[in-house]
Amino acid sequence: MAPASSLRARIHALLHFTEPSDAGRRWRALHLLVLGVGLSAVMLLSIEDLPLDARNGLRYAIGVVAVLFFVEYVVRLWTAPETSRYGESSATMARLHWAISLPGLIGLLATVPVFMWLAGYRIVDSDAASVFCVLWILKLGMHAPALGTLARVVSNERAPIAGVIVLFFIVLVIAATAAHLLERVRQPEAFGSLPNALWWAVVTLTTTGYGDVVPLTVGGRMVGSVLMISGITVLAIMTGVLATGFAQEERRREYLRVWQQVARVPIFAALGVVTLSEIVGKLRTRYYPSRIVIVRRGDPGDSMFFISSGEVEVRLPNGGVVRLGEGAFFGEMALLERQPRSATVATTKPTTLLVLYASDFYEIASHIPALAEAVENEAKRRREENVERTSGEPKR
Ligand code: CMP
Repeated sequence: MAPASSLRARIHALLHFTEPSDAGRRWRALHLLVLGVGLSAVMLLSIEDLPLDARNGLRYAIGVVAVLFFVEYVVRLWTAPETSRYGESSATMARLHWAISLPGLIGLLATVPVFMWLAGYRIVDSDAASVFCVLWILKLGMHAPALGTLARVVSNERAPIAGVIVLFFIVLVIAATAAHLLERVRQPEAFGSLPNALWWAVVTLTTTGYGDVVPLTVGGRMVGSVLMISGITVLAIMTGVLATGFAQEERRREYLRVWQQVARVPIFAALGVVTLSEIVGKLRTRYYPSRIVIVRRGDPGDSMFFISSGEVEVRLPNGGVVRLGEGAFFGEMALLERQPRSATVATTKPTTLLVLYASDFYEIASHIPALAEAVENEAKRRREENVERTSGEPKR
C-alpha cells in the first residue's frame, strides 16, 4: 500500500509540474512538445489544398496526440487522491471531485477525438478537427500557474473591477444615446438606432477605432472626442486595479512562502510570533540551481542570506572552503563591517535562500538586539577562524 501510494504521489507531483527535478523538466518539455505537435497538425489540416499523403500524416499525428492525452487523463484521474485539497475525501470521491473540476473537464475534452474515433467517426473532416484546437489549447493553461494567480486577483478585486465595468457601460450608453440624437439625421444607417450607435461607441471607447462609422456633426465629434479620452481613462483604471491586485497577491503568497521556510532557520526559533512576523514581512525567498555564485568576494554587500534548504560553499581568500547547510546564514559580515564581501559563496546543490536586504537588516538589528547579537557573535567567530586559517593554524 505504502509503496503504491508513494509512487502515485511521485507521479502526481510530476504530472502537476510541481517536481523541480530533471524528470519534472523533461516531462514539462515533452508535454509542451506533444501539445505543439497536436495543435500544429490541427492547424495544418485546415488548409484546403493539402496533398492526400500529408493529410493522412496529419490525421495520424492528431490520433497519436489524442491517445497520449487520453492516457494522461487516466493517469491524472488515478493520482487525483494525492491532490492536497481532497485530502479528507475517499479515493473515489477525490477522483470524482477532480473529474468535475476545471482541469478534469479540460483533460476530458482533450480526449474527445479518441471517443469520436471509438464511436466510429473518422477524423477526416477538417472542420471537426479544427475544434480540437480549442480543446487542446486549454491544456496550455497547465503550464502557466500564474493563471491561478490571475483568477485569485480577479476574485479579490471583484468590487473595483465591477465598478470599472459599470463605469464603462454608463459612459457607453450615454455616448451612444448622445451620438444617436446628434447624428441620426445625417447618418440614419449608422446612427438611426441605439444598437447601431452602441456599436460605434464600443469601437471608440475600447480605442479600437475601425473607422467604419465616423460622426460628421460638430456635436457628434465632440461626443466622440470625450468618448476616446474616457476610453483611455477606463482602460488605465482597469490596468491599475489589476496591477495593484497582482502585486498584493504576490506579496501575500511570498509572505506565506517565507513563513513555511523560516521554521528551518534556528536563529529565528527563539523569537516570538510578533517579532517573527515582522521579520517574515521583510524576507524574500530565492531559489538557486546548483553551482550559482550568490556573492562574490570584493563586491559591495547589500543583503544577507539564510539557507532554508540546500547547501552553499564559502570560498575563502586563503583557498579554504567551508560548507554551510540548511539553517545557516551568510553575507552578514559585509553588512556588519560595512566592507566588501570577504569571500565568494556559491551553491553546491539546488538551494532556497531567504534574503534580507541591508536596510531591513539594520532596522531589524536595532529592534531585536538578541538576533543582532547572535549574528554578530557568529560573524566574530568566522572572522577569527579566517585569521587563524590565514596564519596557518586551522582551528578544526
Ligand atoms: P560577507 O563577507 O558579507 O560575504 C561572504 C560571506 O561568507 C561572509 O559574509 C560570511 O557570511 C561567510 N563566511 C566568511 N568566512 C566564513 C567562515 N569561516 N565560515 C563560514 N562562513 C564564512
